Amino acid sequence: MIKHSAKYFLTFLFLCNLICLFGQDQIDLLIEKMTVEQKVGQMTQINLGFLSSSVDQHDGKVKKIDKEKLKNAIENHHVGSILNTAGTAYTIEKWHRILTDIQDIALATPLEIPVLYGIDAIHGVTYTKGSTLFPHNIGLAATRNPAIANQIAVATAKESRASGLRWNFDPVLDVGRNPLWPRFCETFGEDPFLVSTLGTELIKGYEQDGLSENTAVASCMKHFIGYSDPKSGKDRTEAYISDITLWQKHIPSFKAAIDAGASTIMINSSMINDVPVHASYRLLTELLRNKLGFKGMIVTDWEDIIRLHERHKIAKTPREAVRIAIEAGIDMSMVPNSFSFCEHLIDLVKSGDLSEDRIDASVRRILVLKRDLGLFENAYPEKDAVQNFGLQEYQSLALNSARESMVLLKNSGQVLPLPKNKKYLLLGPGANCLSALNGCWSYSWQGDKEDVYPKTSRTILDVFQERFSENQVLCDVKSDYSNADNFNINFSDEEISNVDYVILFLGENAYAESPGNIDDLTLDHNQIELAKKAIALDKKIVLVLIQGRPRIISDFSAKMDGIVNAFLPGSMGAQAIVDVLFGDFNPSGTLPFTYPANSGDLLTYDHKNLSAMVRTAPNKKTYGGYHPAFKFGDGLSYSDFSISDFKLNSDTISGDEKLQISFQLKNNSNVDGTKNIDVFIKDHFATLAPDVMNLKAITKVFLKGGAQKEVFITLDKNDLFFFNAKGEKLLEDGFFSVLIEDQNQSFYFKN
Ligand code: BGC
Repeated sequence: MIKHSAKYFLTFLFLCNLICLFGQDQIDLLIEKMTVEQKVGQMTQINLGFLSSSVDQHDGKVKKIDKEKLKNAIENHHVGSILNTAGTAYTIEKWHRILTDIQDIALATPLEIPVLYGIDAIHGVTYTKGSTLFPHNIGLAATRNPAIANQIAVATAKESRASGLRWNFDPVLDVGRNPLWPRFCETFGEDPFLVSTLGTELIKGYEQDGLSENTAVASCMKHFIGYSDPKSGKDRTEAYISDITLWQKHIPSFKAAIDAGASTIMINSSMINDVPVHASYRLLTELLRNKLGFKGMIVTDWEDIIRLHERHKIAKTPREAVRIAIEAGIDMSMVPNSFSFCEHLIDLVKSGDLSEDRIDASVRRILVLKRDLGLFENAYPEKDAVQNFGLQEYQSLALNSARESMVLLKNSGQVLPLPKNKKYLLLGPGANCLSALNGCWSYSWQGDKEDVYPKTSRTILDVFQERFSENQVLCDVKSDYSNADNFNINFSDEEISNVDYVILFLGENAYAESPGNIDDLTLDHNQIELAKKAIALDKKIVLVLIQGRPRIISDFSAKMDGIVNAFLPGSMGAQAIVDVLFGDFNPSGTLPFTYPANSGDLLTYDHKNLSAMVRTAPNKKTYGGYHPAFKFGDGLSYSDFSISDFKLNSDTISGDEKLQISFQLKNNSNVDGTKNIDVFIKDHFATLAPDVMNLKAITKVFLKGGAQKEVFITLDKNDLFFFNAKGEKLLEDGFFSVLIEDQNQSFYFKN
């Protein structure tokens, strides 16, 4: 009996040991054994292209990985993390070979610390051949469907982990406040509530119930903070953001993601109010660590430490740049194309300019992440995770999410859905281009390499040709987006005379980051001219916009019978667009941003009362300053919905009492459909000028044709506060209104 108990006790101890194999104590013991060089190596992240036949600057050309360079990085520089591809997407097998080579070298070093590999899997697994690509965030935001965002993240995590990649530089939590910004498509649009709601779903989907599961990846919130509102609209340029705006618009999504358990965070390459964020102790340590309570690992963005010297010019030398960034709070440097960071940081610690305790804190966070990801138990690609790659269900998810993302902006004379027995002329560069449908981060950084898309990918023309007979479809659009032929109508009058409908596919070709900078939000000249030529044909005409940001179409939009904004819908985008055009799917998407009518008028929906006010004549004011082409939340349906009996449970709430909103939603048509509902709060008076309204809740309701349903939404005092410049939440007594479309009810809040 006693013998047995002892045996059980020993087994128990052994299990405890296993569980704690890399507990906090073990990590501390490991750190104690490490030299300064080894610690600094852990804080260093190198680009795979740098370890290849020549330096890869994201140019998409495939390079051969050089084992000697790899060994030098890991053995001599003790590099703890690698990122990116040395070219375009790899097969799973190639990823496994690369990662196995890397870990073989790492585990043969004296400390046997595995390498942490980081990758951008932005709307699906960007860099693995055959992965499923989903709509970009801007389209996901139009679905108003947090559940689908979560499912996409789970699928992405599984395909990523199957590739052997355990750390994903996603999601983008920047709030899309400036539609010129070339990364607008990576955002969930202009509203902080929407970004927080969908962004946290991505985090939960990536990280699931724990990073050691072979279906999960570590997420990386990015880019902290204020990246998305550059004054010039150009990528990586300066922003001027007051503390109030920072708290009210930019911080909430990061705070929500931190609370949802995000493991890592990447920093904004740019500067706010003349201070580069990578150099800001105030933003990285006081705000992010101390105030927002982030415990995870902070990584820089690409080359952003040396750029404190080279671009921002706040550090006189590269060594000084390293000191400033580490003092500000950086844990890991995405160097990534040299070892200069290692050299300078080693020197800074050895000379006493930076304390070893400071770098120990960073190394600890990095090792904890490696432990949580299960890398100490098994650093190699997990063979049994491969079964989660390429599942049929991901295709359905890609199709459903793309369908739900489509926004029907205009439908004059019910031109849509189109009848299926007519003749269609397809015009515009988007009609035959995979890159345009998928956008950035699609099998390459820029997403513009048509030949790397899977053979199963379909352009819009492909889908038309599959679904209609040859004589129904007239199209001469070349897959090369900017081919001059794509901006002309290359058919005879006789051919055109047989056409019933013209469908114009305009917008943008793929671009990522700075290469997507533009000087004018207006759609480019060639496309506007093409639209005018199409209008001159005098047929029913439908415009489909395939684009990452709202390019201005005011020159010709009035002449369009129908307009669908398809965003960047991903690998099943062509099918989803055609489904919507012909009524095989009833559109329900709603705009996650304000679609401007004029380039000088980029007011967001949540502007101040002052901006909304226009003085038309002496002593005459109207609230008409918000004049977009389409408003935030706009989106039509083939059903006809109406809202009635809009009620609040009380005209006063106090303290913790709940405010219950109810209304009847009716589908007056005989077409089944889904209605996205945005719920806004208007604060009538506040000690800091309130916005005209703010989004506080979203819901989606499916109704069969002719059906009616009572819808309930509950809000409380947490939906009524605002932030001051210190980040304090102010909740003031006073009148508020709840607004849903044209309905509105007021109530009084009392603390
Ligand atoms: C981008 C990041 C990305 C990183 C790594 C940078 O240029 O700004 O969003 O995660 O590259 O590829």
